[in-house]
Order: sequence, then structure tokens, then C-alpha cells
Amino acid sequence: MLIYQISDLHIHDNIDNHVYENFSQLMSFFAKSPPDLLVLTGDLSDDDGSKQAYQHIKSLIPQNMNYIIVPGNHDKCSVIHEVFPADYGRDNDFCHSLPTDSLDLVFVNTSSYSLPQKQIDYLGSKHIRKGSVLFIHHPPQLISQGYMALKHSLKNHKAVSQAISKSNISHVFCGHFHNEYEGEFDGYKLYLTPSPAFKINLYSEKLQLEEPSPAFREIKIDTKEVTSTVIELSNSIG
Ligand SMILES: [Fe+2]
Repeated sequence: MLIYQISDLHIHDNIDNHVYENFSQLMSFFAKSPPDLLVLTGDLSDDDGSKQAYQHIKSLIPQNMNYIIVPGNHDKCSVIHEVFPADYGRDNDFCHSLPTDSLDLVFVNTSSYSLPQKQIDYLGSKHIRKGSVLFIHHPPQLISQGYMALKHSLKNHKAVSQAISKSNISHVFCGHFHNEYEGEFDGYKLYLTPSPAFKINLYSEKLQLEEPSPAFREIKIDTKEVTSTVIELSNSIG
């Protein structure tokens, strides 16, 4: 199974900018090389739940593409549901999973800056098989003492990390920190995907922006084996 993950699009109502251009490039590439599933891990809108921004995004996602939206702190679930009707994601308590042949893809909602207890409990569900994959906007680890970790971390990240460690989830894909990262923690591997809108230095205590590019994460699932890499279109197209 081939999954593409994009995160932190931060699309404005006004689309005359590099942010929309980078998103457009990603969607053109995805139309030519479609994955089995596209996962958008939050902060779709830069204007905090703007319906117009969501409509811009929807208009560019290739037709017939399977996609799932995991909300971020800049999103409004009610507006996402209005623009992208789905049978999940109506409120802060959605617990959604998709089975593959050998494991489960789990999707949770931290748009409130914390993972609700109901969803923490869901991570430990017996029906989630060993080696499963979680998509969550906020990283469950601080990773560094950088600006995002100090100022904008998930409020209950310790409880969430403990729940993941005890669960059958082995791979956790996030955004929110706006940069690329991979690391091993207690019982799971953590992957951060960069934002095509603006990158943030992971290690600087002060907000330090870096040049963004149309980047996405490719995730391959072969039976129980999960492999992943970040692809930057400006580099790969040349
Ligand atoms: Fe963001």
C-alpha cells in the first residue's frame, strides 16, 4: 500500500502566494502518480477554519483520490465536515481507523491542543493489530527544546506517548512542528513531515523560519513492514 502524507498546508483565503503554489505542485504530482491513500495531517487552513481556504484545497485534490483529513489546531472540525463530508471528524471525539491486510491505520483529533481521553483509550483498543500506524497532528514528544516544543506542544503529550507505548501502534506520523524528523521512542517510531507553507527550525528557542518547498512524505506498507521517506518535488523533478 502506498500512502502520501502532507501536513500544515496553511492555505490562505488569498491564494496569490508561494503557499498555494507549493500545494498546487504537490497536487499536480499526485494526479500523475496517485497513492492508494492521501492523508492530510492538519492545519489545512491558515485562517483558522476558513471555509474558503478549505474550498481552495478541495478544488485541487485530484478527483477519485482517496483521502482522509486529520484536523490540526488551525482547523475547525465543523467547517471541515461541511466542505469535505465524511462519516468521521464531526467533533473532537472522533476515533477512526482503516484496516489494511495486515495492520490498522488509526486517525485521531488533537485540534483542541490535547488528545481527549476517549481517543487515548481508543489507542489501546484490542482490535488495533500489532505494528499499526497512527496519524496525529501534534507530535507526542517534545523532540527538542526548540520554539515549537517550548511554546506549542501537545498539552497531554506525556499521557499520549505512554498510551502509544502500551498500544499495538508502532509508527506515528505527525506534522505541527513544520519540519522533518525521524526518531525511535519507547516502543514506537516517530516521523514528522515538513510544511510546504513555512518551515520552522526544530532546535532554535526563538521562532526561526526556513525556506519551504513542495514536500510530502511517502509511506509504503508491505505486509507488516512500514518504510517512509520525505520527498521534495523541487529536488526530485530537477
Ligand atoms: Fe501548522
